[in-house]
Amino acid sequence: MKIIQIVGARPQFIKYFPVHKALLKYENVRNILIHTGQHYDVNMSDIFFKELGIPEPHYHLGVGSGPQGAQTARMIEKIEEVILKEKPDCIVIYGDTNSTLAGALAASKLHLPVFHIEAGLRSYNKFMPEEINRVLSDHVSTLLFCPTKTAIKNLEKEGFKNKLNDGELIPIPFNQKIVSNISEPLIVNAGDVMYDIIKEIGPKAEKSEILERLGLNGKNYATMTLHRAENVDNAERLQKLLNFVNDIDLEKVIFPVHPRTKRLLSQVNFSEKIKIIDPLGYIDMVKLTKESSLVLTDSGGLQKEAFWLGVPCITLREETEWIETIELGWNILYKNFKSINDFTKKTAYPFGDGRAGERIVEVIVNMGIN
Ligand code: UD1
Repeated sequence: MKIIQIVGARPQFIKYFPVHKALLKYENVRNILIHTGQHYDVNMSDIFFKELGIPEPHYHLGVGSGPQGAQTARMIEKIEEVILKEKPDCIVIYGDTNSTLAGALAASKLHLPVFHIEAGLRSYNKFMPEEINRVLSDHVSTLLFCPTKTAIKNLEKEGFKNKLNDGELIPIPFNQKIVSNISEPLIVNAGDVMYDIIKEIGPKAEKSEILERLGLNGKNYATMTLHRAENVDNAERLQKLLNFVNDIDLEKVIFPVHPRTKRLLSQVNFSEKIKIIDPLGYIDMVKLTKESSLVLTDSGGLQKEAFWLGVPCITLREETEWIETIELGWNILYKNFKSINDFTKKTAYPFGDGRAGERIVEVIVNMGIN
């Protein structure tokens, strides 16, 4: 069996790791990795491959930045070339970026089964590029690997009917032969691959020296990230969020700045308590998050990481896909935030059991593809 997996943006390198690792024990599966080049800075891309020990991609498409149409089109063109050359049995895509959609379109139009990891997420906000990418990718996918039961419900609302194991986490090992095709797509409750990696790599983050490097001691700071187009492409909107953060009673806010956000920083004002730093690798970011008293973010991944690391989070968006973190009292949307004492912090495990990567691979190898 030959599979092609597509990554391109920072969170996808992280999501790929557990699947890559679970595939290692299957010697008869040829795993080909394509990096679209959507992210290309050393600290947005290479650092993750190095830290996580992910081998160099077989293909680096070097697509880079650009208007979304041109960027996605360049990816589709180049992914198609690789597919025609390699003739894989299926394509695996991750999350909701332009790289995800490009992979979904290139593969489905060549009649290849598309397997979508992190399927079924919805914000119901069509102004987000990610929402368009998700909806379209899900609707051409054959296997929809959902991280949560909410994601499964979202897909059911859109007419998806088939659920493996009745929508419950599938057992491991899983030896049932699976039949699925584009007219009969199958929902699989796999759990969240980001939970796998934080469980595995999280403890290693203890070794990180990020706190010393930043002169931090103890939980006297918050960690903030902002990168969503709707927040950082417009100075007025960014200023509104920075004013909100400024008004919270915090000693220090550490702000690793995404390149997209950096472009607008000279057009906004922020108080001295906000400390701007370069983007961090996975290990330093986990350590910085874990030791902070609060997380402020518009990132989906960081909302969950805060939850797993036991840190309350304020989401700097109008809505979130990760409603479990809100329902359990660990996350509050900024527009609903009143007091730091309002986090009710209930314990629950809605993101699987940390074995999503293994589950995904078990299902793929049981697809009856030789
Ligand atoms: C993308 C994803 C978003 C994901 C995010 C993670 C889409 C539509 N969005 O957003 O869902 O949460 O990645 O970070 O796919 N740039 C650099 N160096 C880089 C990468 C980007 O300088 O290595 C700059 C460029 O100026 C570029 C801008 O950042 O124009 C935005 O990059 P882009 O790839 O368009 O999307 P992201 O905002 O990173």
